[in-house]
Amino acid sequence: MPDNKRTQRNPASARDKTMTIQKKIVLLPGDGIGPEIMRAAVRVLKECAAEFGHDFQFAEFPFGGCAIDATGDPLPSETLSACKTADAILLGAAGGPKWDSVPLPKRPESGLLGLRKALGLYINLRPIDLRAPLYGLSPLRADRAKDVHIDFVRELAGDIYFGKHNVEPDPSGERATDEAAYTTAEVERVAKYAFARAESRKGRLASVDKSNVLTTSQLWRRTVTRMAADHPNVKLEHLYVDNAAMQLVLAPAQFDVIVTSNMFGDILTDLGAALAGSIGLIPSMSCGPGPSLYEPIHGSAPTLAGKDVANPVGMILSAAMMLRESFSMKREAEWIESAVDRLFAGGVRTPDTVEPGTTKVGCIEFGERLCAEMAATSQRQQRVKSGA
Ligand code: IPM
Ligand code: MG
Repeated sequence: MPDNKRTQRNPASARDKTMTIQKKIVLLPGDGIGPEIMRAAVRVLKECAAEFGHDFQFAEFPFGGCAIDATGDPLPSETLSACKTADAILLGAAGGPKWDSVPLPKRPESGLLGLRKALGLYINLRPIDLRAPLYGLSPLRADRAKDVHIDFVRELAGDIYFGKHNVEPDPSGERATDEAAYTTAEVERVAKYAFARAESRKGRLASVDKSNVLTTSQLWRRTVTRMAADHPNVKLEHLYVDNAAMQLVLAPAQFDVIVTSNMFGDILTDLGAALAGSIGLIPSMSCGPGPSLYEPIHGSAPTLAGKDVANPVGMILSAAMMLRESFSMKREAEWIESAVDRLFAGGVRTPDTVEPGTTKVGCIEFGERLCAEMAATSQRQQRVKSGA
């Protein structure tokens, strides 16, 4: 059917969409700044739904410290069941000093690990993109900050995070152990994703381990090396994690895709976020066999909560990633991302990204200005203005 017919049949639908796409999105705002940044992201998603004629249905559930307060459990069963049947999940942040004295298995962070485990989320994609208008924020020299676009693929369901944790008496006091384990299958499934990601980008994959010391790392390296034979288009290299940390600071532009274990990935992605200028800028996607989960990589920042100073960009870009990766809504994601870039280029900044000569705005105003920036390229609003 020709396009004009479609438009006539559904004149209210925006852009050139024909059918309303319905998506069920579970929201887990969590603690600290989580609820504030989530509000900004939901606002942006609502704009997007209106612009493109989609029907996003949001359902919010308790998670993290606030869920401990309400139910005694950081991951209540009602929250978990809602996540399992969602089309995608958006998560703000979990944790805070209020729950620091709670035993490890009942801490807000355990809710996050429990959720990752229960949903089988073994891939964690964390893009470290240094955005040109923000080069001045990077601790790197200007020439090193250029052309840095790294896709970190962090394994998320294994390693020392999920091994046995034990404390026992010792003549000196106590003895604590944390077990790190990987199986061939666990390395293969995450490496498979990383090879595919590299194939869709510049074709370079760096695998990071500590195989000069750790037996899990030796299995990791053997497995990734064997798989390289099936991916002739990918140039694979191996780095020890200590060297990787140094290379990320000295010459980050050499990297395209980096694949690494859960623990090393946790550490190196915070380093990567620092290169970008603020941890508040970095989104992430976690996926497995079911619905994917999207969250900024920063924490709950309890000292910033309730002051309208949080940076919602990591959360908003996580929502854009959800549109692209879970819903195949590429244009929608680009609409949001390009507006974020224009806003930064125009000098609108949250307190953590402010520079001389730019305008400092709070979390709420940043969200509002972003929606206004998106509206500036809205085809729907142009049609309304012209009376079409
Ligand atoms: C992250 C966080 C979590 C992790 C914590 C909160 C458990 O640091 O997502 O990077 O270590 O994975
Ligand atoms: Mg971390």
